[in-house]
Amino acid sequence: MQLSTFNSNLMKIIRITAVIILILSSCGGGQSSIDRIKEQTMSKPSDPYANWESNQGIGPIQAFTLPQDIDQALVGKGKEVYESKCTACHKIDKKFIGPSPAGILTRRTPAWIMNMILNPDGMVQEDPMAKQLLMDFNGSPMANQNLTEDDARAVLEYFRTL
Ligand code: HEC
Repeated sequence: MQLSTFNSNLMKIIRITAVIILILSSCGGGQSSIDRIKEQTMSKPSDPYANWESNQGIGPIQAFTLPQDIDQALVGKGKEVYESKCTACHKIDKKFIGPSPAGILTRRTPAWIMNMILNPDGMVQEDPMAKQLLMDFNGSPMANQNLTEDDARAVLEYFRTL
């Protein structure tokens, strides 16, 4: 074998080796693609709404159970408060600046709803569900309307009828 043929063969081998090293290193530093997929699915955050039934929110209201019967006088008071302080952003028949309160008791606990009304700033900072809600509504925050606990309780009673 001539020296020049030997040299060109050597160059070929070097080039092929370089290509193989490139392919191997693009596979993620020895980690198999299956491992990477597993890691991605495991680090995916879980749905914050999934645990709504045990989430009481953060604020002045502790977990409580609503009485069976709806208090119509309280509903009337709640409707008045809602219409004067909430309809700028909430509509019953559709999603508006904020979500519709229709059927809210099938997806939020009574305490969570009242804490959201009374402590919206604390809620969007610390409660996982309120945080997600803020993102779902493109960062427009729920405004604190400075309701008393009694007014918030009345609004909750009104929400039971929607
Ligand atoms: C300036 C607009 C604005 C006003 C006024 C407002 N809200 Fe909201 N509200 C929002 C937005 C936006 C969201 C969703 C995003 C978030 O929570 O940050 C929200 C979320 C909520 C939620 C949670 C709904 C859900 O499906 O989880 C409740 C309950 C609520 N508001 C009740 C009220 C009540 C009661 C009033 C009146 C006292 C009121 N809001 C006034 C904008 C408003």
